Amino acid sequence: MKRIGLLTSGGDCQALNAAMRGVVKGLSSNLPENELEVYGFSNGYKGLIYGDYRMLTAKDFSGILTKGGTILGSSRQPFKMMRVPDEKGLDKVEAMKQNYYKLRLDCLVILGGNGTQKTANLLREEGLNVIHLPKTIDNDIWGTDMTFGFQSAVNIATEAIDCIHTTASSHNRVFIVEVMGHKVGWLTLHAGIAGGADIILIPEIPYDIDKVIAAINKRTQAGKGFTILAVAEGAISKEDAKLSKKDLKEKLKKKAHPAVSYEIAAAIQEKTGIEVRVTVPGHTQRGGSPCPYDRVLTTRLGAAAAKLILNDEYGYMVGIVNGKTKKVPLEEVAGKLKMVSPDAQIVKEAKMTGISFGD
Ligand code: F6P
Repeated sequence: MKRIGLLTSGGDCQALNAAMRGVVKGLSSNLPENELEVYGFSNGYKGLIYGDYRMLTAKDFSGILTKGGTILGSSRQPFKMMRVPDEKGLDKVEAMKQNYYKLRLDCLVILGGNGTQKTANLLREEGLNVIHLPKTIDNDIWGTDMTFGFQSAVNIATEAIDCIHTTASSHNRVFIVEVMGHKVGWLTLHAGIAGGADIILIPEIPYDIDKVIAAINKRTQAGKGFTILAVAEGAISKEDAKLSKKDLKEKLKKKAHPAVSYEIAAAIQEKTGIEVRVTVPGHTQRGGSPCPYDRVLTTRLGAAAAKLILNDEYGYMVGIVNGKTKKVPLEEVAGKLKMVSPDAQIVKEAKMTGISFGD
């Protein structure tokens, strides 16, 4: 008999359901009938803290491979607040342990990003059996080449840039597409290249607005009627990158523009006189059906997680490295951020094709 708990935590993304399906199918296909019990916790760690769960059956995992979102619901429960009692004085970590033991779980399978992973590691340190599956459209989880949700989001952001291309070619304008990705530039880099953006601005390569404008002018002089910029929501100027965390926070509070793209747009418009338009696809990047790549990835990660559970091996993230699923000890990866290296081959190759990074 195996009893497992499932929870999806943090911002949602495509293929969360596909990943849970992979785990459950991997277990149920390899255990005798009635030898598997699955409990789904609602809204991430919240459900585990407050004992909000339901028993799930094979039926719950049928037909969800292609379904976006999460059948369990999700919420953000910041890691730094986990040791802080709730408003009624409840010790959250103790409460999570109590619910785990009450259900006599063999393992908790936790799907989420960086913050989620840190709490998963905390629960491991507290003696619970956990397995983490790396979810995020940001692809910023250390120890795995790819996170699920990323490729689906690349498709959507690319489509947004594609659509901008057709309207851009009808107007002499500069267009900015602001892409999600939190503090890293993976999504913008991939969607920018795939969508044929002329300028790509990512947090790992702080930009110089004069270089950005020089790249636009170069295109204009070459007779190109428009320029498309893919700008990461976390993009930062060289000037701001030099500030301390505290000073930057203060500066951001005083900024007139809600997002970096509007600030860049205003600077371009002022210095070139060219009309600039900003498009923010926002949360559409996390929505809709998972792409085939993510369906395959999550089915593989789910099956690999099931194998660990069947072997009673816990305390791992299941990632994918060089095309192979891999168990990675949680203590080795928790708290680490995978960023784009400015010297990465992909960046150099993008530059070779004439894409400007504004540096
Ligand atoms: O981590 C995924 C992500 O979509 C980031 O790219 C983005 O910065 C953030 O979540 C948005 O969070 P929320 O859904 O809480 O607005």
